Amino acid sequence: MDSSLAGRSALITGAAQGIGAAIARLFAAQGARVVIADIDEGGGKATAAAIGEGGGEARFVRADVTSGADLDAAVRATVAAYGRLDIAVNNAGIEEQGGSALHELTEEAWDRVMAVNLKGVWLSMKAEITQMLAQGGSGTIVNMASVAGLVGLPLGISGYSAAKGGVIALTRTAAIEYAGQGIRVNAVCPGVVRTALLDQAINAGIFTEPEAATLHPTGVLISPQDVAQTFLYLASEMSNHVTGQALPVDAGMAAG
Ligand SMILES: NC(=O)c1ccc[n+]([C@@H]2O[C@H](COP(=O)([O-])OP(=O)(O)OC[C@H]3O[C@@H](n4cnc5c(N)ncnc54)[C@H](O)[C@@H]3O)[C@@H](O)[C@H]2O)c1
Repeated sequence: MDSSLAGRSALITGAAQGIGAAIARLFAAQGARVVIADIDEGGGKATAAAIGEGGGEARFVRADVTSGADLDAAVRATVAAYGRLDIAVNNAGIEEQGGSALHELTEEAWDRVMAVNLKGVWLSMKAEITQMLAQGGSGTIVNMASVAGLVGLPLGISGYSAAKGGVIALTRTAAIEYAGQGIRVNAVCPGVVRTALLDQAINAGIFTEPEAATLHPTGVLISPQDVAQTFLYLASEMSNHVTGQALPVDAGMAAG
């Protein structure tokens, strides 16, 4: 049993940049044939091209995770290109707009973060599981949650936290519902990771970079590559029989 994904097909949402792109690069390096589904066409195509230049197999499909039709099409494109869907990573997500205290958060900001970060994961799993069942069962799904879905944080991100908590609940429910069909479903809960999303949070005044690092007991921010390794563990045979788990990669944040 090893980390190889040779011959497997993987659909990864939000993989044009950031953690999703790191997951796409790592999965391709392990032999997976990767479909990058994102609203960022330029970034998605560039990430797929870079993987190809490095000897891997990847292609881009434009998909907005708030659209069930887009996700159905992304799954169809994966099957058309690679024959089946073995692995799905539901990573696309946004920062909460405004960084407001709960009583100041607008309904619009709440609805948007729920639409992308929670409904987007449900719509993604709906399309992916439908395909996995049509293939006769089996497959692995790894959802992107956050340490914010596990513990309360004084960061003015109540909508984001509620959405990520919802992703964890959805992950556990799906794991139970489809365990009998050989579909494993897990979630990863990162702490603070160095990406454009972190830059947005800093620009929105949620915290400064040194303040972000001090949220971790280690005092060190996490790299997208480090988070990608945990996705590889949960997508590969290394984690056979692991299902319904929400695994923190949080430099000790949730342990406090
Ligand atoms: N960066 C962190 O500190 C951190 C911590 C915990 C969890 N996360 C989660 O990790 C995931 C990736 O975040 P990141 O830091 O790499 O951010 P990022 O902004 O660098 O990347 C997010 C990607 O998602 C895509 N995306 C956004 N909305 C989309 C939509 N509606 N449909 C399809 N694609 C869409 C973007 O185009 C982008 O490519 C998110 O779910 C985020 O909540 C990030």
